[in-house]
Order: sequence, then C-alpha cells, then structure tokens
Amino acid sequence: MTGTTERWTPVRQRGPSPAPAPAPADPERAASVRSIAEELSGVRGPLLPILHEVVETHGFVHDDDVPVIAEVLNLSRADVLGVVSFYHDFRRTPPAAHRVALCRAEACQARGAEATYASAADRWAGSTEVEVGEVFCLGNCALGPSGTLDGTLHARLTPDRLDALTEEWAR
Ligand code: FES
Repeated sequence: MTGTTERWTPVRQRGPSPAPAPAPADPERAASVRSIAEELSGVRGPLLPILHEVVETHGFVHDDDVPVIAEVLNLSRADVLGVVSFYHDFRRTPPAAHRVALCRAEACQARGAEATYASAADRWAGSTEVEVGEVFCLGNCALGPSGTLDGTLHARLTPDRLDALTEEWAR
C-alpha cells in the first residue's frame, strides 16, 4: 500500500473552493473526521493516510465523511470518492463483529487453503456477525494455510480447526 500512496492521491484543485458540505447526519462523527483530516492534511499525499485513519477510528468511510475530507483538502467530492472506491481497504459499510481473512496465495493453496476458504465462506454466508475475506500472503507461507481471525494470525488452518477457533462466534 505504501508504494502506491502517492500515485493515487489526487492533485489539489486550483481555482475556487468546492461548495460547502451539507450538514452531516452525525455531527460528532463529522467533527472527528474533520479533526483527523486537519491533523493529517500537512503530510505528503494526505488523502490515503486520512482515509486509513478514518477507517481505523470509525470502522469505515461513511458517505458523510467524503465532503468533510474534500473540504479540508480542497478537493472535489468526486476525487475523494474515486480514491475511496478504488481501494478495498476503504470499506463503505460498518464492519461485522468478527473477521476471518484467509490466505489464498500459492503456498497456502498448495497446502489446502481453498477447502478452508470454501468451508468458511459457506459457513458464514449471509452472516452479519462474521465476514470472510481473502488475503494474498501473510508472510507465513511455511505454516499455511494461514489466515487471521479478528487480526490474529493463525497457521495450519483446516475447516475443522477454523470451526473450532470460531466456535463461540454467533451465526
Ligand atoms: S502464501 Fe499464504 S502466507 Fe504466504
């Protein structure tokens, strides 16, 4: 992500400032997002760091965050929205309570990752409590299939092991 940061950060607009943003539905959140944006507006290529911090702090980028960030950076809303929608990291909806991220890169595939992924995807299909996602190499190839459960790395994941590790998560 670091290597692509500057390439995708739009150039600041010249000319008049964008129209003021409409009043956000959650003024407290808007104030927090504004504070994040203002604090990071001085860094080089500020948009991506701001969006990462918004996701870190609030879990996702709400539609109402876009005009706030655009205003602080003197960008158009379309510029901000374009970056938000380009990167998967900048989710637009609140995260589920739990997240399973399974590696589907080659080394883990060779050790049976697809069966674990298919099992997890099937088990949690339609769940609002658990999200199943894919990652491509966690640097734990020798101990694959690898994955993270709520951010904690686990090795040698099988469907049964994954079921056991997530046993207490509500369906
Ligand atoms: S390929 Fe899965 S951790 Fe590297």
